[in-house]
Amino acid sequence: METRTLPTDHPEAFRLAVDEAVRALSAGEVVALPTETVYGLAADALNADAVAKVFAAKERPAFDPLIVHLPHKKDLDLVAEVPEDIAEVLKKITEKFWPGPLTIVLPKKAVVPDLVTAGMPTVAVRASNHLVFNRVARSLDKPLAAPSANRFGSISPTSASAVQAELDGRIPLILDAGATMHGLESTIIRIEAAKPKARIIILRPGPITPDDLKPFGKPILARNLKPEEQEKLEAPGQLPSHYAPRTPLRLLESPEEFTPEPGKKYALLSYRGDPEDGYSDLAEWDHVMVLSPGKGKLPEAAVRFFFALRELDKLGVDEIIAEPLPERELGLAMMDRLRRASVKRS
Ligand code: TXA
Ligand code: MG
Repeated sequence: METRTLPTDHPEAFRLAVDEAVRALSAGEVVALPTETVYGLAADALNADAVAKVFAAKERPAFDPLIVHLPHKKDLDLVAEVPEDIAEVLKKITEKFWPGPLTIVLPKKAVVPDLVTAGMPTVAVRASNHLVFNRVARSLDKPLAAPSANRFGSISPTSASAVQAELDGRIPLILDAGATMHGLESTIIRIEAAKPKARIIILRPGPITPDDLKPFGKPILARNLKPEEQEKLEAPGQLPSHYAPRTPLRLLESPEEFTPEPGKKYALLSYRGDPEDGYSDLAEWDHVMVLSPGKGKLPEAAVRFFFALRELDKLGVDEIIAEPLPERELGLAMMDRLRRASVKRS
């Protein structure tokens, strides 16, 4: 199959690209679309045959459920039930963060095919605020199931060319809207009624941070829950080995942890590129990729993060060494991805 990439950077191209995407999606095809987080591989969420094509193109195992994107936030009722005991806090949260990079796990409605939710009784829902994604979803007027547009387990794409590198020949169409704004996948939460404040369990850290969520309840990172509570969460896709480059990646906790082996080639993923942090001089780095030169800004690092991993993966070094990032705000999300990427794949 030939993969076509259509630009969206002037009004006429935008219209043509959106029309083409809507046509393909109506016909049960898959289309890669930009969102504000990463590019997604979209299909009509209520058409199981179309959704099956998403799994096939990504080689994604059927136990890993997809996120459903709503054309409008008011469409939530189409796909999910709203439990009474969280209705009020949910409304406040969606008012504040939708459309935007926040995904909420809720009980599913029967119309959502089991394939989308991997047979689970819940569905993960968000509404994107990307101009192109929105125009397509609203013209189609249907919820879109869209995982990140990469092969399963690989690095999420933040540009149309990254989608092409992942899925060329496997999908018919990519809409190109340049680099994505946040660079990291949406924050995924579950809301639990509790007194005096609702508990907001963060299943996947992302652009909406625990501090952002604090006014609405008590944010808790899933990985900080007790093991018996973690087991009850049913978050299948959160595999330990994920977001991984093909080159082995090692996340350091401190510079002392690393001694280069003679004859091996290493590349460094550095936060600020500042020798004072203690990593720049650890080895004769084959290549150094700095996420946010200077003082280090987490949003800038996030935008460059997956691009940097993708570039380092092309070098053919023996190992990518990653500096730790500050574990706050977007640093939480990047450290989450680095931890998963540094687990060896079988
Ligand atoms: O920013 C994003 O969320 C991007 C863009 C395209 O929207 N999408 C994305 O999708 O990152 P994906 O498939 O790469 O990651 C979705 C994750 C799954 O791996 C799974 O862990 C979780 O969402 N998920 C989906 N449905 C779930 C459910 N019912 N319960 C718990 N977790 C769920
Ligand atoms: Mg993904």
